[in-house]
Amino acid sequence: MKILGIETSCDETAVALVEGEGDRVKVEKSLVASQIKDHAEYGGVVPEIAARKHVDVLFGLLEASEISKNGDGIDAIAVTRGPGLAPALRVGVAAAKTLATLWKKPLVGANHLEGHIYSTLLGPTPPAAGSKVTDLRLSFPAVCLLVSGGHTEIVLMKDHGVYEHIGETRDDAAGEAFDKVAKLLGLEYPGGPIVSKMAEDGDPAAIDFPRPMMDSGDFDFSFSGLKTAVLYHLQASQKKSDRTKSATTNVCASFQEAVVDVLVGKTMKAVEEHQPKSVILGGGVSANQRLRSRLQEEVKQAGLEFLVAPIKYTGDNAAMIAAAGYFRARNKDFSDPMTLVAEPNLKL
Ligand code: KG4
Ligand code: ZN
Repeated sequence: MKILGIETSCDETAVALVEGEGDRVKVEKSLVASQIKDHAEYGGVVPEIAARKHVDVLFGLLEASEISKNGDGIDAIAVTRGPGLAPALRVGVAAAKTLATLWKKPLVGANHLEGHIYSTLLGPTPPAAGSKVTDLRLSFPAVCLLVSGGHTEIVLMKDHGVYEHIGETRDDAAGEAFDKVAKLLGLEYPGGPIVSKMAEDGDPAAIDFPRPMMDSGDFDFSFSGLKTAVLYHLQASQKKSDRTKSATTNVCASFQEAVVDVLVGKTMKAVEEHQPKSVILGGGVSANQRLRSRLQEEVKQAGLEFLVAPIKYTGDNAAMIAAAGYFRARNKDFSDPMTLVAEPNLKL
């Protein structure tokens, strides 16, 4: 089954074609047009600008994806219906509804976070001989740690489309904390990749930042206090103008270590309690090498399967939306193009 995916929930416009077969998928085409440069001067994503850019580039991307003009060869269209920025989501949803109606194809309203879960099936394992799809598949139950710019959640996935919420952040998301700390350090937006790059040269034990809610007895998170601790540290240490590079890399490494300690610690506590078969790490922050390697190590030690997306698919993309859409389409879980709407606060 071939799925066209469309993603416009935030600041990437994306289109993809994914082939699904049984429990597995393969990306045939994945195109992403990033707007990061358009938002950098504002220090964050401006929803109206994001929406306008999606309108500007979406049809160009569809054309570049070389799908036939009348939708031939496509079995269903999947679009992110939420969560995300309302004006941005509406562009993709309107486009997908129009194409589904025009081409008479079934439509799937996909959940962005579900997309991040299914991004872990997108390679890099090559397909076996004679098969069109990779050999990766999800095994249930799975404990999923979802970490992005807007969300930090632990979810127990019992089957395709069956979720139980275990914990979430009570304030900032992990990616948001990275971005805010980058801002405090005078680094560019989005700060996550820059902070993690600088952390490579720093000492993770240099500054003893707090590990918020580490022993709270539940699976919730809180990162705003950690960001404030970084602010107080910077105010107490020295003026921004005479801060040395090593002082900055130490802040990055120590901050990152605090975030990773809490994320890994809580996920492993969820593993102890819920005894899953696998652990899935998804979302933009899953590009963080320290988080990937620390969680992988602990999960392997527990004898469980660990799934994380190839770096290429950790950020927002439409291949993950098409993959999530495939598993819904397989169950004939379709949306009516007349009634599908963007849902900025959609839950899993
Ligand atoms: O999933 P995503 O691309 O967009 C949302 O759905 O929000 O996640 C973006 C977030 C940003 O906050 C970005 O700073 C963070 O992921 N991020 C990282 C890294 N790469 C991206 N955070 C930490 N380390 C990274 N290497
Ligand atoms: Zn995302």
